[in-house]
Parts: sequence; C-alpha cells; structure tokens
Amino acid sequence: MFLTGTMKINAQGHLVIGGIDTLELVKEFGTPLWVVDEEGLRYNCRVLKEAFSRWGDAVVAYASKSLCNLAICRIAAQEGLALDVVSGGELFTALQAGFPAERILFHGNNKDPEEIRMALQAGVGRIIVDNFYELELLNSIAEEYGKNVDILLRITPGVEAHTHEYIQTGQIDSKFGFTLTDGQAMEGVKAAVYSPRLNLTGLHCHIGSQIFDMDPFRYTTALMMEFIAQIKEETAQEIAELDLGGGFGIFYASGDQPVDPEEWAEAVMTTVQEKARHYNLRVPRVIVEPGRAISGPAGVTLYTIGSFKEVSGIRKYIAVDGGMTDNIRTALYGAKYSAILANKADQEPVETVSVAGKCCESGDMLLWDVKLPRVESGDILAVFATGAYNYSMSSNYNRLPRPAMVLVNQGCADLILKRETYEDLLRNDLLPDRLKLE
Ligand code: LLP
Repeated sequence: MFLTGTMKINAQGHLVIGGIDTLELVKEFGTPLWVVDEEGLRYNCRVLKEAFSRWGDAVVAYASKSLCNLAICRIAAQEGLALDVVSGGELFTALQAGFPAERILFHGNNKDPEEIRMALQAGVGRIIVDNFYELELLNSIAEEYGKNVDILLRITPGVEAHTHEYIQTGQIDSKFGFTLTDGQAMEGVKAAVYSPRLNLTGLHCHIGSQIFDMDPFRYTTALMMEFIAQIKEETAQEIAELDLGGGFGIFYASGDQPVDPEEWAEAVMTTVQEKARHYNLRVPRVIVEPGRAISGPAGVTLYTIGSFKEVSGIRKYIAVDGGMTDNIRTALYGAKYSAILANKADQEPVETVSVAGKCCESGDMLLWDVKLPRVESGDILAVFATGAYNYSMSSNYNRLPRPAMVLVNQGCADLILKRETYEDLLRNDLLPDRLKLE
C-alpha cells in the first residue's frame, strides 16, 4: 500500500524509486534525504485533473503549502494545474519558477500590503479575500494601481471534517473567512460587490485536511450552492466560480482508507450540477485545491539509523539522523507513517521499534511501534508519504541543517534542494561590533 508510483523492491532487496536504488541515492547525497518520485507526482496531478475535468468546467489548483520549491512548481505548471499560494514567499517561488501568474490563486488570512502589491504587479489570477479588512485594503491598493482585481470570498461554512466524521457547526470559531451562518458572509458579498475595484468572481471554502469521507464534501458543496442561490436573489449577482478547497486524504498507515479521486470528483461535481438545476443557476466553474494528495505519496524520506535504547519490557528506541526538524507531523499531530528498511526491504519484520529523532526534546519522535526486520546501526530507514507538509514545515531547531531533496525519474536523480551547511545556518546571523572578538 505504501509503495506508490515507481517504488519497487529490487533483486538485492533494496527499495528502488524512480528506477534508482535508494542505497545509491544515500551514497551520492547522504541522509537524511527527501526523495521525490517525479512520475508519481505527475501521475497524482493527472489523475486529479482528469477526474474533475471529466465532469465539466473544473480547475485543479495544487496547494503549494504542502511542498513548494522551484522544481515542484515547474512540474505543477507543466501538468497544467493552477496553484494555490498563501504567502509572498510561496508566490515569489512560483513566479521564479515561471508559473503563469494568471493561474495562481492567492490565499491567506492576513496578507500584508507588500504581498498584495506583489500579487497585483504579477497579475495573479485570483485573490481569495478572507475578511472585511482585506476587502478594503485590496480595493485601495487596486485603486493605486488603477487595476480591477478578480476575487473569491473565503466563506466559513460551519462544517468541520475529520477523517471519519464531520461536524456541522464545529468550525464557526475559525480565524478564516466570512462566517456563513450569522449573515457575515452575505455582508461580505455585498461589500465586495460594492467595491469598485473588486470583481467578485467566486466563493471559496476549505473544510479540513486528510478527509476520507465524501459526505462532508457533498454537504458543504450543497451549502455553498444554496448560498450562491441566495446571493443571486439578494444581489442579482451570478457567482461564476466555486472553490471547494483541498483536503483529500491519502494513505499513511494501516487504518487509512483513501477513496479513489474519481469519488471526490463525482461527489463534488454532481452536487454542484444537481443544485444548479434545483436553484436554476448557471453551473459554476469548480476549483479544488489538493496539496497532500499530489505531493504526499510522491515523497519518501531516507534516514541512517544510529543509536539504540531499550527500555526493558516497554520499548526499543532507534534513533535516526533527522527528526522533528524534517518531519514535525508526528510530534505536532500524532501523525502515523509507514516505514521499511531500504536495505532489507525483502526481509520479514521481526521486531517492533519506535523511531526517535536526534533533537533535544522527548517529543521528537517520527514513528511509534513500527514493525521492522532486525535493525542495526547503519541501516537505512525509508519513511513513506512524506512529500506533504514535511519540508514545508521543516525547521532548524537545535541548529540542524535541513536535508537535501532529490527528484528521481527513470534512473536519474537531480538535486532540487541543496543540503544546508553550517555556513547556511549562519547566513543571516550578525555580530554587532561591540561583541566582536578583539
Ligand atoms: N486549500 C486551503 C485553503 C487550505 O487551507 C489547505 C490546507 C489546502 C487547500 C490543502 O489541503 P490538503 O489537500 O493538502 O489537505 N499541516 C497540516 C495540514 C494543514 C493544511 C492546511 N490547509 C498537516 O501536516 O497535515
């Protein structure tokens, strides 16, 4: 289940990705190493794009927050996706990668004036406006530039989706968006319609992440269509675009049961079409913003195993040369992962161990209770589905340099992110004259 894309086990019992033995990758690039399977990544882009476009006018925007650098943005552009960015940094990366600005959607609950200026100068396709403050700010900056800006309004529909359930009023208390249930959303729509420089092309919502149940998507889509009907009634404004966010779940560990992207597309697209008929509306263009479903399964992290500690009768810890600095999701969310020994990938599991990182913090754990073949120092641990929200949430805690990232494809490995050096860690440090050595 965790071997996706081009991942295989070769005759020597080694994990192979993109036609390359991962032990060769380790020799060349060292560990920890983020490996991205290019074919796997492109496949995920295509499957989602095809699943949605089969039903009509739909756009798949890759949520770059899940994994953002020049190479990944280039690939998303080549695959014909749109791009969701949430900061000046993500926007800058996308523009430097040559991502067509008109296919970029700019999110964020607190975009600053500089970020907004950058977006307007670049000609970003849509700005997703999050609150009243931003409506005013954006309108006044657009006025400075003498530009009209296409916007979507972020609506908080009051649906919170979890992996196996959803709550219909749970997420009203959110920092994001205009609340649907208390009239704020309609007020926001009216304010947008009356903003001379803003052109309200659509609505946006996002109900959560790592979702396996399609009901919350159906339910939210229906709520948003009902709201579109109300908007037409109260303002005569026809909403042309409906962005339903990301959140499509992937396999990390046993218990995760991802559904086919077709099911997501069907749930969303048929609800939009049914409700358009029901309310006598034009069928809006649908936008979705998957991040994890595109980048997650395409990434594998390779670590070298170092020290061991056995707590008798309780647990065996094995420690790797990375940790919460390259993957904070276990420590932060209690996330689960699957792993194998890349150099013993054909051997049966014989022991249960917990994998610790090397940071000076007890919570710095990567996997709890994972079954592996007999583990020895020097073995290479491969952790699967680390493409999303690992690099993008990485840090230099304990002044650990960030790992390198390689893109593998058909026997070639290209470095797409250099390993940080100790000098890199000092790049922005400054020593005031009065503290300098004599
Ligand atoms: N669109 C919007 C507006 C979002 O806020 C997000 C994720 C996405 C799209 C993409 O969601 P995805 O398809 O990747 O689930 N750091 C967490 C995930 C936070 C997601 C935040 N927003 C994690 O590591 O699981």
